[in-house]
Amino acid sequence: VQPGPHGPRIDTEVQASADGRSLMKAAVDAGIDAIAADCGGNLTCATCHVIVPPEWQARVGAPSADEDTMLDYTAVPRQSGSRLSCQIRLHPELDGLWVELPERQY
Ligand code: FES
Repeated sequence: VQPGPHGPRIDTEVQASADGRSLMKAAVDAGIDAIAADCGGNLTCATCHVIVPPEWQARVGAPSADEDTMLDYTAVPRQSGSRLSCQIRLHPELDGLWVELPERQY
């Protein structure tokens, strides 16, 4: 975790063993407490908000319609690149992904 313009940022090294895990789960498992993830990945809490930097947005992809709706409920207003990290599935193409964390999740 390193400082970024919008708060700390997470760097992930995506290993084959991480395949299929969500970014939220990987971050929580790594002890990053700036991701609250109150609902455990059920897309009902919006406390796993992250901001994907422009250079990663195409590879990460766009949010689903349901995620897009939930992004209206983040504590820090959504911005370009905002995603709910429980909806980002890690796979080898995302090796080296980093995201920024909002100042707060509540
Ligand atoms: Fe609740 Fe992502 S963990 S919406």
